Amino acid sequence: MSLLEVKNVSKSFASGRDFLGRRTKWSHAVKDVSFSLEAGECLAVVGESGAGKSTVGRIALRLIEPDTGSITFDGVDVRAAKPAELRSMRRGMQMIFQDPHSSLNPRMTVVDAVVEPLIVHTDMGRGEREKLATAMLDKVGIGSRYFGRYPAELSGGQLQRVAIARALTLNPKMIVCDEPVAALDVSVRAQVLNLLRDLQEELGLAYLFVCHDLALIEVIADRVLVMARGEVVESGSVEDIFRRPQQEYTRTLLDAIPVPVPRSVRGQEFEGVRAEPVS
Ligand SMILES: Nc1ncnc2c1ncn2[C@@H]1O[C@H](COP(=O)(O)OP(=O)(O)OP(=O)(O)O)[C@@H](O)[C@H]1O
Ligand SMILES: [Mg+2]
Repeated sequence: MSLLEVKNVSKSFASGRDFLGRRTKWSHAVKDVSFSLEAGECLAVVGESGAGKSTVGRIALRLIEPDTGSITFDGVDVRAAKPAELRSMRRGMQMIFQDPHSSLNPRMTVVDAVVEPLIVHTDMGRGEREKLATAMLDKVGIGSRYFGRYPAELSGGQLQRVAIARALTLNPKMIVCDEPVAALDVSVRAQVLNLLRDLQEELGLAYLFVCHDLALIEVIADRVLVMARGEVVESGSVEDIFRRPQQEYTRTLLDAIPVPVPRSVRGQEFEGVRAEPVS
């Protein structure tokens, strides 16, 4: 059984209203999407803007309720879960957002941001919580001098590291990463991506990795789900998608990569994107 199974999921949003405010038009954000994610695996979700990538990630966590379809996480029916079940399930599934400036509370210190999920979900004592939080911050490379600081005092890359530490404290099985490096300076993207990859290997995490930048996908993903206009166009191993794309849409996405894709995948550090095109 897969860690996450999504079957025939659809979701429409109202896209127009009449003069009485009644919803008149509905458009599919996601249409009949199915996929699975194995424990410890990274599945990249790619596709152009508006393809439905973020909606799929949010549906998987039940942050958005789909209209139809089924979702199973770790053997539990996500859509049928009662509040208590959902709460305990949420310990196992976390999310990292694109912009850490808006995902972290500006009035909470770094260490408190990482401690907070432990207050909500565990009965750990204060000392124990802080010990775990500081160990996590250490793991993601945040020095102790930052522990008492506020988000405004940290760089985007540092903040994303804090968000990662916060997502890890409850020892999740899966993290939905929605464009986790897209908002960061190009110079720190590779570092944060390498950190995510190392943590995945060390902790056996599964990632649902939403990303429109295919150059990053080859570094971190095992399989790829290609989406267009809410539907799955094609899916396969990274190797298959990059070397033997079956669909024209996928080929177009690959052709749009402005720089050479790093050749090797795991086991080597990703040096970042080279500036000059290579013919
Ligand atoms: N809350 C919402 N209300 C109305 N429409 C929505 C909502 N969320 C998403 N949509 C629409 O659903 C479609 C898919 O959106 P989604 O955010 O999932 O795309 P995406 O692939 O993540 O795009 P991007 O790369 O720009 O982040 C879009 O047409 C979007 O406008
Ligand atoms: Mg999105």
